[in-house]
Amino acid sequence: MNAIETHELSKAFHGMYAVEHLNLHVPEGSIYGFIGENGSGKSTTEKLICGLLVPSAGTIRLYGQPHTNPAIRSQIGVLIENPGCFPNSTVYQNLMMQALNLDLPNPSQEVGRVLKLVSMVGAAGRKFKECSLGMKQRLGVAQSLLGRPRMLILDEPINGLDADGMRIVRETLIGLNQEQGVTILVSSHILGELAKIATHYGILRGGTLIREMPASAMVEECRSFVAVNTSDNPRAHAILATSYTQVEAKDGILRVYDETDSALVSAFLHQNGIGVTEISYQSIGLEEYYLQTMSRQTKEASHA
Ligand SMILES: Nc1ncnc2c1ncn2[C@@H]1O[C@H](COP(=O)(O)OP(=O)(O)OP(=O)(O)O)[C@@H](O)[C@H]1O
Ligand SMILES: [Mg+2]
Repeated sequence: MNAIETHELSKAFHGMYAVEHLNLHVPEGSIYGFIGENGSGKSTTEKLICGLLVPSAGTIRLYGQPHTNPAIRSQIGVLIENPGCFPNSTVYQNLMMQALNLDLPNPSQEVGRVLKLVSMVGAAGRKFKECSLGMKQRLGVAQSLLGRPRMLILDEPINGLDADGMRIVRETLIGLNQEQGVTILVSSHILGELAKIATHYGILRGGTLIREMPASAMVEECRSFVAVNTSDNPRAHAILATSYTQVEAKDGILRVYDETDSALVSAFLHQNGIGVTEISYQSIGLEEYYLQTMSRQTKEASHA
C-alpha cells in the first residue's frame, strides 16, 4: 500500500499554480527523497499533504484514507520550514508544550526520548533564541518525532547542520525507518546526503513531477564508467573509439562507458603508445543525475 498517494493534486496562489496535476506515490516503509529547485513546489506539496493548505484540485490519500481523516492525521510528524517555537522558552519547555498539546500520555518521558534521539539532552535547558541554527533544526526534528508517528514529513531537515548534525539526523531517520517501519517524505537540497538514505525519489520541476522512481532504478540509470586522462586525449579518444562504442570527452577527461575494468583501458592505451596520467572507475551520483535530468527536460521543452 502507498503511505501517500496524490491524484491530480493542484494548488494555485492568486491564479498561479505552485503545483499542478501531481500524482505522487510514496510506498509504505520508504524514505522518499523529494528534490527540485527553489520554488518547484516541494514545501507546498508537503503542506497540502499535512493539511496546512487546502488543495485547489485533486485528492490526497494517506494509507488509503482521505488525508482529512483525523485518526490518520494524528499519526504524522511534521517539520516544514521553521520549527514553531517560543524564543524565550527552553528546548525542553518547547518540546513539553508540544507534547502536552498532542495530549501524549507520558509527556516528560516522551520529551526525554526524542531529546536523546537527536543528541540534544545537553542542550535541554537552553533558550530557543540562544540555540544555533543546527540546534534549532534538530529541535524541529525532535518535535516531529513526538508521539512516535507512523509517517514523517520533513522539509529540509538537514539545512544548516554541520557534518556531525547531519550524521545524527541521518542515523535517527534510518533507525526509525528500518527498526520501526516509519515512512519518511524528506526534501533536501543536499543531494549527496539524501542519496545516503533515500529508497525512492520524486523530482519536481515548476510544480510538476517529472520523475518518480525507486533508488535502485536511479542507480541503474546512473551509468558507471572508466575515467581516463592521458598525455594526448584527442588521440586517445580516437584510439579508444576503435575498440569501445561509448567514449565521451567530458570536463577534460575521457569516459569509457562500456568498460568496467580500468586496467584493460590502461593496457590498451599503452599498447597504442599513449601514456596514461590518471585512471579510475567512477559512477554518476545523484547530483549529476539530477542535473542531467533537468537539462534533458529543458531541451525537450524547448523542442516541443
Ligand atoms: N503562500 C503563498 N502565497 C503565494 N505564493 C506562494 C505561497 N507559497 C508558495 N508560493 C509560491 O509557490 C511556488 C512553490 O513554492 P514552494 O515553497 O512550494 O517551493 P519549494 O520547492 O519548497 O522551494 P524551496 O526549495 O525554495 O524551499 C513558488 O513560486 C512560491 O512563490
Ligand atoms: Mg521549500
